[in-house]
This record gives sequence, C-alpha cells and structure tokens, in this order.
Amino acid sequence: MKVDLLLGLQWGDEGKGKIVDFLAPKYDIIARFQGGPNAGHTIEFDGQKFVLHIIPSGIFDPKTINVIGNGVIIDPLILMREISGLREKGIDPAVNMLISRKAHLILPSHRMLDAVYEQSKGTKKIGSTLKGIGPTYTDKVARIGLRTMDFFAPDFREKVEALKQRHLQIAQGFNFDVDALLLDKMPMAEYEEKWMEAVEALKEIPFIDSEYYINDALASGKKILAEGAQGTLLDIDFGSYPFVTSSNTVAAGVCSGLGIAPSKIGKVFGIVKAYCTRVGSGPFPTELFDQDGQNLRDEGHEYGSTTGRPRRCGWLDLPALKYSVMLNGVTDLILTKPDVMNQFDQINVCTHYSLNGENTEKFIPDEVNAQPILESIEGWKSDVSGMKDFDALPQKFKDYIAYIEGKVNVPISIVSVGPDREQTIKR
Ligand code: GDP
Ligand code: IMO
Ligand code: MG
Repeated sequence: MKVDLLLGLQWGDEGKGKIVDFLAPKYDIIARFQGGPNAGHTIEFDGQKFVLHIIPSGIFDPKTINVIGNGVIIDPLILMREISGLREKGIDPAVNMLISRKAHLILPSHRMLDAVYEQSKGTKKIGSTLKGIGPTYTDKVARIGLRTMDFFAPDFREKVEALKQRHLQIAQGFNFDVDALLLDKMPMAEYEEKWMEAVEALKEIPFIDSEYYINDALASGKKILAEGAQGTLLDIDFGSYPFVTSSNTVAAGVCSGLGIAPSKIGKVFGIVKAYCTRVGSGPFPTELFDQDGQNLRDEGHEYGSTTGRPRRCGWLDLPALKYSVMLNGVTDLILTKPDVMNQFDQINVCTHYSLNGENTEKFIPDEVNAQPILESIEGWKSDVSGMKDFDALPQKFKDYIAYIEGKVNVPISIVSVGPDREQTIKR
C-alpha cells in the first residue's frame, strides 16, 4: 500500500478540511505531517460547523485513526481546547487519535517571540498567525526544542523554564514589553498556567513512534491519507520567501513529517480554489482591489478560519497552479468554491504574465512586478450549489472545468460546490 496525499496548491484555505472529511471514510488513517495551529480547517455537516487547527480532519469518522505526525508542532493548550470543543459536541478524539512522541512543542514563550519578531519588522511584517510557528520550528532546527516525549521527563518544568529564559533574553534585545503581551487575551503568566494544565490533561492521549505506526499500517494493507496544512505557495523553500510559513508544505514534507519513503507515496490530490486568496503579506499577482475582489470575499466568506482576518482575493493564477502541480507531482485536482462565482458574468483566469516587457508563463514566487495577463471565460450564471451529478451541471460550467484541465494537464476528479460535506461531486 501507499500513502495518498492531499495538499493545498495556493496560499492555504483551499478547502482541505472539507475534502479530507469527505474522503475519510475511504481511509483507515488520516495523518497530519506539518504545520500546527496556524492551520484552520473547516468542516460542515448535518448543520454543524467545526474548525480544526491541529487535529486531523478525519476525526468525525469514528472508524478512522487520526495521527498527528512528528512534523507537526503542537501547542498543548490549543490542542486541549480543540479536544474539549469536540467533546462538548459528543465527539471524543481520545478514542481515535494518536500523537507522535517526536512532535515539537509550542511554548507560550514561542508565541511571545512570534509577537516580538513581527513587531520588530514594522511594515515588513509577515502577517503571521502569531501561534508561535516560526520560533518553534527555529528551535527544532537549532536542536534546542522540546518534544511531546518530554512531557514524561521528571524535569519537564525545568526544561520549559530554561527555554523560556532563553526566549526572554532574545525579547529583551528587542526592548519588548513582555508584561503588556496578551496571548489569546490572557497575560502570559495565565496562559503559561493553563498551558501546563493542558500538558497534564493531554497525557491521556497515546503518544507513539508514528513512523513505525504508519509503516506497519502500510505493510498490513491499511489505507492512509496525509493531510497537508497551509499551501504550496507558503512553503518555506518554494513560497514567496520571507512571506511564507516555516515548514515544507509540499509533497516532500510528508516523507520527513511522517517518516515514509518517497517510493511509498501514492496519489497526490491537489486542492485548488476556483480563485485565489491569501492572508497576511507577500506578493499576489492576480490580487483584486475592485468590486470583483469584494464580491469574491463576500460570496466566499473569505475571512480567516484561525484569525478572522479578511482574506485578500484575486483571480485563478494558472502559472502559479502549474508551478504547484510540478512541485507536488499532483495526480488529481480537486476544485473548490466555483459556486462562489455562480452569478459572475465573466470569470477571469491568469494565463501568463508580462514581466519587464516580455510575456512569461513562469511563476516566480517572490516576483512583485509580474503583471497578470487575463483570459475571460463566460460565467454559467446559475446556482450549482445543490447539484450532485456532474453530467447535469450547466454546459458552461463543464466547459470551464475542461478549460482548467486542459491548461494544467491534470484531471479534476472532485468538484466541491458548497461548504457542506454533501455538496461534493465526484466524477
Ligand atoms: P482549509 O484551511 O484548506 O481547510 O480551508 P478553510 O476551512 O480555511 O477555508 C475554506 C472555507 O471555504 C471554509 O469556510 C469552508 O467551509 C468553505 N468551503 C469549502 N469548500 C467550499 C465550496 O466548495 N464552496 C463554498 N462556497 N465554500 C466552501
Ligand atoms: P490552512 O491550513 C492560510 C499564513 C499566515 C502568514 C504566513 C505565516 O488553514 O490553509 P505563520 O503563522 O505560519 O507564521 O504565518 O502564512 N498562513 C496561512 N494562510 N491558511 C493557513 O493554513 C495558513 N497558515 C499560515 O497568514 O501570511
Ligand atoms: Mg484554513
């Protein structure tokens, strides 16, 4: 057996959570392999809406085991809140969730440092979710981080305190007022106290060597889906550096984030939103500042699932999409949110750019001067959000799907036409 992957092909928020939840019944295991609580994956079914940050999106299928892999970073307090929120709605993640012993921990002082660094950048700020992502991955690579296995060390509190002191020294160098800092509206001391309580509470979840678990499961014929967070264009290597996240969001990240060999990768599902959105700073060639952009934001409810910030909106960018397909080896495209443009007369798509007086099809993630060249497609002007059968969709909608497939050269195997689990058309 091989591990299938599901990844975002743009700047995140493509609808990964919705699609993982839809696919979950076909899999035995859903595993997150990178990122942390910067992610916000929305799932809707039976009139209920959930937003997951660290817990994999297979949690609503009781037969599916959900693994938080070694490449993920965990804030125990945020994770414990997520678990409690699910329990209030009758879902107990302790039943079908496992956590890697090697997953690194986000300390309250990592979140403090995130705030320190963002503040120091002034107008050049990244627009981080301020969940401590950058500083935690920094400490992992610097070989001074703490992992979930440290929960069980007799000197765990001392280790946390020692790392915090290091962080405070850094903050001092920036003249940062730690006493004025609020983490989730709490003074840091209160957050720290709740964080420690969460560590104790989390100990009821099994902590495992997830690389063995995943490889043993593969050997015994289990079906596994790896759930990406963020998007390809936020990748630490291939995104618009420095306006990126701090992990490898591309397919390669699954090998180090779960401990599987490249030869064990099966299908690669790439999720693409029918237009583009981006939260935070950084280049965005097709960004719209006009009424079309506002219509996309309003119709698509484009406000961050994690931070509530309005998302920047723009037309679909085909060179960027082809770049993501290339980096990930995408075998199947999944198109989300075309329904947002149900009433658009014309739908624009960027086919190439004009750069320094020349036309180019090459997407350069950190290029700020590329001017998008758009092609206009006639809209289908009808409501597809209740449709279940691909063949019954309006011809103009099917033409639009065929157009994207033709441009990218990868089949679109699922079309999502609304936020609910049921609003999903498989071809
Ligand atoms: P993720 O981070 O990739 O899981 O995506 P988010 O959950 O952050 O953002 C996607 C948003 O679009 C959520 O509010 C979803 O409920 C919603 N959504 C997902 N698929 C569709 C779709 O096909 N149509 C519409 N209208 N909304 C969708
Ligand atoms: P999901 O999984 C959209 C963005 C932030 C910021 C940059 C760095 O829901 O698609 P970080 O907190 O990682 O230091 O922020 O990356 N970002 C996301 N944007 N969706 C996400 O996750 C994101 N996770 C991080 O807005 O620009
Ligand atoms: Mg999201």
